[in-house]
Amino acid sequence: MSWPRVDYGHTAYEKAVIAGDVYGIRPDPKRAGKRPLNLAIAGCGGVAQAKWLPAIRYLQTRSEPVTIAGFVDVDQASRDKVGALYAAPTFPSLEDLLAAKRPDLVLVLTSDDAHVPVARMAIAAGIPVLVEKPLARSLAAASELCAFAESRGVLIASVANKRFSPPYAMAHALVTEGRLKSPPSLFSGKFTLGYRYVDILEAGTIHLIDLMLWFMGSATAVSALGHCGPDGKLESAVASIAFASGAIGSVVTSAAAMSFKPWERVEIVGRHAMLVVEDQLELVLHDEETGPSKLWRPAIPNTLLFDESFGGYAGLLENVLDAIRGTTALAATGRDGMAAVALVEAIHRSVASRQTVTLDEAPLCDGERA
Ligand SMILES: NC(=O)c1ccc[n+]([C@@H]2O[C@H](COP(=O)([O-])OP(=O)(O)OC[C@H]3O[C@@H](n4cnc5c(N)ncnc54)[C@H](O)[C@@H]3O)[C@@H](O)[C@H]2O)c1
Repeated sequence: MSWPRVDYGHTAYEKAVIAGDVYGIRPDPKRAGKRPLNLAIAGCGGVAQAKWLPAIRYLQTRSEPVTIAGFVDVDQASRDKVGALYAAPTFPSLEDLLAAKRPDLVLVLTSDDAHVPVARMAIAAGIPVLVEKPLARSLAAASELCAFAESRGVLIASVANKRFSPPYAMAHALVTEGRLKSPPSLFSGKFTLGYRYVDILEAGTIHLIDLMLWFMGSATAVSALGHCGPDGKLESAVASIAFASGAIGSVVTSAAAMSFKPWERVEIVGRHAMLVVEDQLELVLHDEETGPSKLWRPAIPNTLLFDESFGGYAGLLENVLDAIRGTTALAATGRDGMAAVALVEAIHRSVASRQTVTLDEAPLCDGERA
C-alpha cells in the first residue's frame, strides 16, 4: 500500500538513502535554477531569530536562490544584532528600507499591532507580504488589508506554519486521499499554555483554528463559553463550531495549563475512521476496528530530523517563494489568515454574549472559492 509522500521532517528518502546525500545539502542545479528572490524582514525579535532566519538558512543550504535584502526593526539593538549575524543592511523603518531596496517579498514579523501598517506599506509599494499571525488585531482590519492587497493585485500570504509541519501535512494528505472514508465529519482540538503574557485565542489557539478551517472548511456558527483568570482576561474557552459542510467541531483552550507538558491534540473523524495528531509530533490513523492502526512518529535524536522543517517554517516559506515565482499555488492566503481572525472574534463575541454567533458573512477559506 502506498502512502502520501510527505517527508517526516527529515531529509527526503531519495536524497538520503538512494543518492547518499545524508543531509540533502549537495548542490542542486534544478533548485538553484529557480528565479532568485530577495526578501526583507520587518521585525527582528524572537520568532524572526529563532524560526524564520534558520528557515531561510535551511533553504539556502539546499540551493534555494533566496537572499536577504535587509532588516527592519524599531529597536536598534535587535536590528544591529541580526544585521551583524546575517551580514545584511539594517533600517529603522520599512519606509527607509524601501527607499534603498526593492525586495521581492517582505516578511512581516513585527509585534501584532504593527502587522497591518507594515504590510500595508509594502503592498502600497507593490511588494508581496507574508504576515505573521494574527493577520490583524480585528476582522475589520484583516478584511481591509486583504481588500487593499487584492485591489493592488499584490500577493498577501498568512503564516500558517503548522500546515507544513509533517504530522499535519501528512494528516491532510490522508484526508485528501479519502483515508477517512468520507469528508471529515467531526473535528476536536485542544490547545493549552502555561503562561499569561499573550491572549490565548489571538496568539496561540489561532494556530489550531487555522488548522481546523484548513481541514473542515468555512465555519458558519460558533457557541462558546469562557472562564476569566484572576487578571480578568479570558483564561479558558470551550467552543462548538458548525461548518458550512454540515460537519461540526470543538475547540478547548486554556492558559491555565502548562507549557512544557502536553499542549496540543487534534482528532478528525470521517466515517468509521479517524486521525489523531498528538502534540504536533505523532500521527495515528485508526481505520480498522480490529486491524492495526498506522503510526507516524519521528526519531527525535535522529540527525536527519530538521527543526526548521518540522516546525513548518521552511515549507511555508518555500511555498510563498514559489507562489511569487508563479510556479505553485499559495497555500495560506491573506484571506485564510482573515478567516482565523474572524473565528477568534466570533468566539470572543459568543463568550461575552453567551449566545451562538453566526458567521453569515464568514470569509470563505481560499481553497473553497470556485
Ligand atoms: N508562527 C508562530 O508560531 C509564531 C511564534 C511566535 C510569534 N509569532 C508572531 O510573530 C510576531 C513577532 O513575535 P515575537 O515573539 O518575535 O515578538 P518580539 O517582541 O520578540 O519581536 C517583535 C519585534 O518587532 C519589532 N517591531 C515592533 N514594531 C515594529 C515596526 N513598526 N517596524 C519594525 N519592527 C517593529 C520589535 O522591536 C521587536 O523586535 C507576533 O505577531 C507573534 O504573534 C508567531
